[in-house]
Amino acid sequence: MRYPAVVNSSVVNSWNEWDPLQEIVVGSADRACFEPTEPGSRPALRDTPGLPFPTGPKSEEDIGQANEELDGLVALLESQGIVVRRPQPHDFSAPVRTPDFEVGNQYCAVCPRDVMITMGNEIIEATMSRRARYFEYQPYRKLVYEYWNADPRVEWTTAPKPSMGDGMYREEFWDWPLEKRHERMHSFEFCVGQDEVIFDAADMSRLGRDILVQESMTTNRAGIRWLKRHLEPRGFRVHPVHFPLDFFPSHIDCTFVPLRPGLVLTNPERPLREGEEKMFLANDWELVDAPQPVLGNDEMPRYCQSSKWLSMNVLSLSPTKVVCEEREKPLQDLLAKLDFEVLTVPFRHVFEYGGSLHCATWDVRREGTREDYFP
Ligand code: ARG
Repeated sequence: MRYPAVVNSSVVNSWNEWDPLQEIVVGSADRACFEPTEPGSRPALRDTPGLPFPTGPKSEEDIGQANEELDGLVALLESQGIVVRRPQPHDFSAPVRTPDFEVGNQYCAVCPRDVMITMGNEIIEATMSRRARYFEYQPYRKLVYEYWNADPRVEWTTAPKPSMGDGMYREEFWDWPLEKRHERMHSFEFCVGQDEVIFDAADMSRLGRDILVQESMTTNRAGIRWLKRHLEPRGFRVHPVHFPLDFFPSHIDCTFVPLRPGLVLTNPERPLREGEEKMFLANDWELVDAPQPVLGNDEMPRYCQSSKWLSMNVLSLSPTKVVCEEREKPLQDLLAKLDFEVLTVPFRHVFEYGGSLHCATWDVRREGTREDYFP
């Protein structure tokens, strides 16, 4: 496979998760707060799930440790000749009140991936699915304006904002006993209803013409319909995907991670719904299971709401080079065996903010154009 260097591409240009990276936004923990309890989210302490989850700003120490690791990633990327941009400061401790809801504080700008996505030369701001993240596009607006002003080819779309009123959610979801959860899993009903358009950007994965969208706690079927109607006239094909063994699905990048044309890193505990692997197998793609993470679920940071599978949340710098968390040796070995050059950084403290290397970034420009990998 050849990777054409694009002559004179738009300043916003990224069609997949792996082409050679030129410009990227790395998140920041500045002024981060604990995610509040709300109908779309029930954060719990890992060690003592019964105790109340803290609210308001995170400690200076916590924020400092995460920022140190984020800065380490910035330094690594810059040493590779990649342009790195950062979010604008934002007061996450400010409450939000709209005609439909009120929430005590906001969250953070550690995970731009959740909010922003580049579809070729278009930037899309997701609807988001949680109240505390309603205004999370704001720290990126200055950058969006800069790109939009710099190049008339840049398109900018903000998806319709859902009400996030009580009626949008199915709050009982959090109290369903395991049995009921099992039953409802098969109909893919989670904490959000189906009446409003809802999606987080991180539920998508880009493979040239083909875009995967995971149905989850943070993306509903109306959200997928909106994406289909928006993207298909622009030449994309949108594929809803499902991982029926994930009881609390949110964001696809710890579950199904394309690494280069022909290769996806998969989660051995979260297989695709039967039939959805067909497009890959029919085009000779290989699905390779990630090894068990080094740290178990009970060894993740106390306030972390994500699973141990943050281990597989790698960031591709090119089809032959990936960045992996420093301690995930088994995964590094697998990637080396698959012919990748593997770079590593410590990133454990960032886990508390819900993401690892892919989540904490938003790629704005990569080499390459839109290819059809599934003809
Ligand atoms: N829900 C995923 C898990 O626990 C974490 C996804 C993180 N991804 C992100 N873009 N924030 O496995």
